[in-house]
Amino acid sequence: MSQESHQIIQPQHIAIIMDGNGRWAKKRFLPRFAGHQKGLKSVKRLVAHCSMLGIKALTLFAFSTENWRRPPDEVNKLMGLFLKALQKEVSRLNENNVRLLIVGDRSAFSKEIQEHILLAESMTRDNTGLVLSIAANYGGRWDILEAVKQWQLVHPEKSVLDMTEEDVSQYIALNALPDVDLLIRTGGEQRISNFLIWQMAYAEFYFTEDLWPDFDEASLDKAIASFSQRERRFGKTSEQVAK
Ligand code: IPE
Ligand code: IPE
Ligand code: MG
Repeated sequence: MSQESHQIIQPQHIAIIMDGNGRWAKKRFLPRFAGHQKGLKSVKRLVAHCSMLGIKALTLFAFSTENWRRPPDEVNKLMGLFLKALQKEVSRLNENNVRLLIVGDRSAFSKEIQEHILLAESMTRDNTGLVLSIAANYGGRWDILEAVKQWQLVHPEKSVLDMTEEDVSQYIALNALPDVDLLIRTGGEQRISNFLIWQMAYAEFYFTEDLWPDFDEASLDKAIASFSQRERRFGKTSEQVAK
């Protein structure tokens, strides 16, 4: 796209590392959990906004494989919030025609959470609008290793030496979705923190100092506008892409 054009090119798949809840709370002399509660409000607003914009897929990093290292009290409260959201938000997702997927190793969650994950996924299965994926107990390294293991289980007769990139892509999380086009990280940090490392191989990165509870519809529009100015070359030259 030429720089003069004002046409906005929308990403098909947006992934967000929702960071800064703790600092948002600390600034207000509130407990960290207040930041997570406020962060859930941002999630709801942004999901509705992405639906309205016609974005195909939104993937949110809610809890990493490393987040178990946090104080047990914070981990417990986050699990409680996750369960509450699974129980309360499904009807709203259905109203917005949103399909919900949970990606990550769910075996570490309580039985109750696991049951509600299955329920929420099945209740939104037939929705044809935005695909909302929540990464929970997710790690990019876990994901790649898991894809290799699953492939081997399905193809016991084959050697991993025959494995192709397409094979990994077929068994990796979110395999039915396009690769991530735009990765947003709030909270000022500029790192991946073991998020979707395979799926973000050619993503455009957008970092903002905004803390997640402050990130709103206008903030997302700004990120999309920035994305739309980028020239994605996928290894080619600028001249080739301009054709
Ligand atoms: C992100 O906010 C939410 C989770 C990781 C669950 P943080 O809790 O990491 O907030 P900061 O980085 O401490 O401000
Ligand atoms: C990344 O945030 C994980 C989530 C947003 C769920 P962290 O706040 O845990 O990341 P690091 O540890 O500072 O890199
Ligand atoms: Mg953080």
